Amino acid sequence: MKLAVIYYSATGHGTTMAHRIAKAAENVGAEVRVRHIAETADPSTFADNPAWKANYEATKNLPEATGDDIVWADAIIFGSPTRFGATSAQFQSFVDSLGGLWAEGKLADKVYAGFTSSKSAHGGQETTLINLYTSLMHFGGVIVPPGYTSELKFSDGNPYGVSHVTGPDNTDELTSDTEAALEHLATRVVETARKLAG
Ligand SMILES: Cc1cc2nc3c(=O)[nH]c(=O)nc-3n(C[C@H](O)[C@H](O)[C@H](O)COP(=O)(O)O)c2cc1C
Repeated sequence: MKLAVIYYSATGHGTTMAHRIAKAAENVGAEVRVRHIAETADPSTFADNPAWKANYEATKNLPEATGDDIVWADAIIFGSPTRFGATSAQFQSFVDSLGGLWAEGKLADKVYAGFTSSKSAHGGQETTLINLYTSLMHFGGVIVPPGYTSELKFSDGNPYGVSHVTGPDNTDELTSDTEAALEHLATRVVETARKLAG
């Protein structure tokens, strides 16, 4: 079972979430690719934002997400920060690059789910995930939301995916509830993809 975790992150929260998902998926036997979506903003525009700069420097030489990572995978978990209640431009630009693969039907019949983060509680997290899932419907993807399929979902409280609140200074670390929800999503996606593969 192959899982691709494909995400955009400016200030690093998405990077942390992606790796948490990857570890949980590996723990249930999946082969995992973590791929960041390339930064399109000019680095000079975030030179005075230490977290953005640090995440950019830490990931810029790692392999970038391509459409082939989706073709390779049986299941894909996407991540984007919430930007005005929707996915970021960088994330959407990646989605827009997938037209050729979509036309060939190569994005269909795979298992998909998503995660996000925002500074404020709620803050557009659910609309970001719904926004992301709209594209996945166009792919013909099999969207596997977590719902309330585990008791722990009543603690993190997001049946649409997993979301982290980064706080007013954008520095809050993952809570144990969110970590548990990320692990639950990874496991559920891998196990559902296994069932579909028969
Ligand atoms: C242009 C822009 C728009 C944003 N819009 C929202 C928003 O609608 N709601 C919110 O709570 N936070 C918003 N934020 C804060 C980001 O969602 C937050 O910094 C994000 O969780 C960071 O994720 P990352 O570290 O993976 O980049 C916005 C940030 C930027 C730069």
